[in-house]
Amino acid sequence: MQMQILGIETSCDETAASVVTRDADGTPMLLSNVVLSQIDEHSEFGGVVPEIAARAHLSALDHIIAQALSEADTDLSGIKGIGVTSGPGLVGGLMVGLMTAKALSASRGIPYLGINHLEGHALTARLTDNVSFPYLLLLVSGGHSQIIRVNGLGDYSRLATTIDDAVGEAFDKTAKLLGLGFPGGPMVEKAAQRGDADRFRFPMPLRGQDTLNMSFSGLKTAIRTQAQKLVPLEAQDIADLCASMQKTVAEILANRCERAMQQCRDIDTLVVAGGVASNLEIRQRLESLCAQHEVSLIAPPLKLCTDNAAMIAWAALERFERGEKSDMTLAPRSRWPLDEDTQTVIGSGRKGAKV
Ligand code: KG4
Ligand code: ZN
Repeated sequence: MQMQILGIETSCDETAASVVTRDADGTPMLLSNVVLSQIDEHSEFGGVVPEIAARAHLSALDHIIAQALSEADTDLSGIKGIGVTSGPGLVGGLMVGLMTAKALSASRGIPYLGINHLEGHALTARLTDNVSFPYLLLLVSGGHSQIIRVNGLGDYSRLATTIDDAVGEAFDKTAKLLGLGFPGGPMVEKAAQRGDADRFRFPMPLRGQDTLNMSFSGLKTAIRTQAQKLVPLEAQDIADLCASMQKTVAEILANRCERAMQQCRDIDTLVVAGGVASNLEIRQRLESLCAQHEVSLIAPPLKLCTDNAAMIAWAALERFERGEKSDMTLAPRSRWPLDEDTQTVIGSGRKGAKV
């Protein structure tokens, strides 16, 4: 039997556990992937409330782990290592996951590893599509909007980041502004299906400037200003605002990815990850960009784009194979850039506490 790894993810509002392995010829295998969303607990507040999230993780995690083991047809005696998200994210949730991993490790003698949540997203395509290094990664979630050059395991160069809101935040704030509910991305995408994407023109900040960075806070302000002019808003106005917003975001992301491809001509694969990567309009826009540049686009299945523990288990498996393990002194990190050498950009990479 190959090495079976248990993954645990509790950095935001999903309590998740998963088991992964490689089959006899080394092909990655996903054995189980259990995700419990806390959306209902947070929706009345319009965003993730850290204290509620931590308590919900605490009450659900043991059960979710048991379910992941059972769906993988294994138990702790079959597990050779535990990967747990130890940052970045909401500290209360990270502590619940980390303490659980440490307790299992100490009581069962199983090595464990603290994993960077962003590394999980970055390596997902190696689990799903066995992608080889190097490749470009567009990571677009509720807390992050980055373009990363993935050179190898643990070797990441950040080429771009947002200088203010993350893309997912822009979707969430747009939805809140238009009364569509939380989380915003899927709501905006649904409303946009009936809308005219060319009715409104929204700004594309930083376009044409000598940077790959992105900015989304102006977009939210432009939508608010436009919405105020239209009050009272008809359903068609809301659909048109959503469609125009979504088209603008797709255009900004495609524009930045195109520039990144031009900078990295040795790379022929673009991977998209993070919750926003489940947006079909954005995927289609990136597909046409990649076709134009003869680059392959890898978009993992939707359930592995949003937060999950399979990506954490997979990143841990790759690191265990290199002989790594964490010790009991490991502490959670609310901020933890993938590329520790790049400058922090004020306002970027915020996560959670969006109320
Ligand atoms: O990766 P993820 O599940 O969690 C974070 O690490 O943040 O991403 C969640 C974000 C939310 O902001 C949500 O609104 C956005 O991804 N999202 C979408 C879609 N589905 C989720 N944004 C646009 N279109 C979607 N279909
Ligand atoms: Zn994430």
